[in-house]
Amino acid sequence: MAISDIPQTLWWAEDETTGLPSVYLVDQSRLPLAGDVLVCSVYAGVCRAIAGMAVRGAPALGVAAAMAVALWATNETADITGVDEFLARLDEVAAEIAATRPTAVNLAWGAERMRGLAHRNSFLDLASMRDLLVAEALTMAAEDESRNRRIGELGAELLPEGAQVLTHCNAGSLATAYFGTALGVIFTAHEQGKLAGVWVDETRPVLQGARLTAWELRMAGVPFRLITDSMAASIMRAGWVDAVIVGADRIAANGDTANKIGTYGLAVLCKEHGIPFYVAAPTSTVDLTLSDGDGIVIEERDPREVTGISFSGVIEPASAAEITALDALTREGPWEVPVARGHVMDITRKGGAYQIDGWVRVAPPGVEVFNPGFDVTPAAYITAIITENGVAKPDFVASLASACEGSGAIHELG
Ligand code: MRU
Repeated sequence: MAISDIPQTLWWAEDETTGLPSVYLVDQSRLPLAGDVLVCSVYAGVCRAIAGMAVRGAPALGVAAAMAVALWATNETADITGVDEFLARLDEVAAEIAATRPTAVNLAWGAERMRGLAHRNSFLDLASMRDLLVAEALTMAAEDESRNRRIGELGAELLPEGAQVLTHCNAGSLATAYFGTALGVIFTAHEQGKLAGVWVDETRPVLQGARLTAWELRMAGVPFRLITDSMAASIMRAGWVDAVIVGADRIAANGDTANKIGTYGLAVLCKEHGIPFYVAAPTSTVDLTLSDGDGIVIEERDPREVTGISFSGVIEPASAAEITALDALTREGPWEVPVARGHVMDITRKGGAYQIDGWVRVAPPGVEVFNPGFDVTPAAYITAIITENGVAKPDFVASLASACEGSGAIHELG
């Protein structure tokens, strides 16, 4: 249990069986109870992983987008003979990747950075173009980690000695190429010995706090307590929260910030209780094409996230007879267990083990649901935005513009 034990969520490596350059992704939709690693050798595989939230978190999505472009360039362009055709197809692929989820700007940023680089180097031959794009995706992953470490240092300076910090969702190593943004601040403060503890919101409905942040903090040896989202007000009133730190999915030029649903409520509570509310995010999350948060598209998600609970696990057969039965049931592929009342359960044979995935209904059938994945916190509720280029404070229009100068934040989409 140490900060050096925190998980890495995605990396580029050769697939051991096919020998193809591939993107490896820890399947976050099943963490922490099943630790599958997905191997994608085509860009559509990464797009599917993004849509299914196997990879998630704005900075991780930016790097995943870049790696998806690099995969396409290396593994899927053998039929292309000229650079013009390569660039025209690249434009389509980049647009498709950027459209896989709407709210985190990093997806578009990652795809656009790769697209722009290729167009600026249109004089290269195809082999050099492919090498260039792979190298760029790897650079973006390394840059993301160093940006997060800098955000960690700058953010930790803002915290008092013995700080009790509350965080929402997961803005940790899993949400980035490595180290994390809001959790990067928490890890750094913990290493400096100035952190008393962390309150982790469970983060309904996908439970990124309970599943992912709790898992990461435990691995890192950071003391924390898990709470339900609705407990924040009462612990603030009790005087047990010195600061709230969250990540971000998209920050408009005036500082309005889209982040996981529930973030806005925390910011309002902070104002009421005189608690600083910090956003920690790299400049790749700043969208200077939007003057304010009204233009941020908020993803609406599957109603089943609200009407029920998903779970994953591994079956441990207790006898040879059970193994024989499970083998027979899963021989042809996943066995859909016939469960009454709309619950869903699949058992899949994986190597020598049997994985169980399911969804349990908690609301009555047929209820209407509204399930936005994000909300927008108006800049007026934000104490500071911690970027790798400095801590932006109100007026954010000027301070964010200066933090983003020369950083490659999105100004204009091609
Ligand atoms: O839907 P997700 O899990 O991709 O959303 C991620 C978030 O909203 C997180 O809160 C995070 O702060 C932004 S990514 C560091």
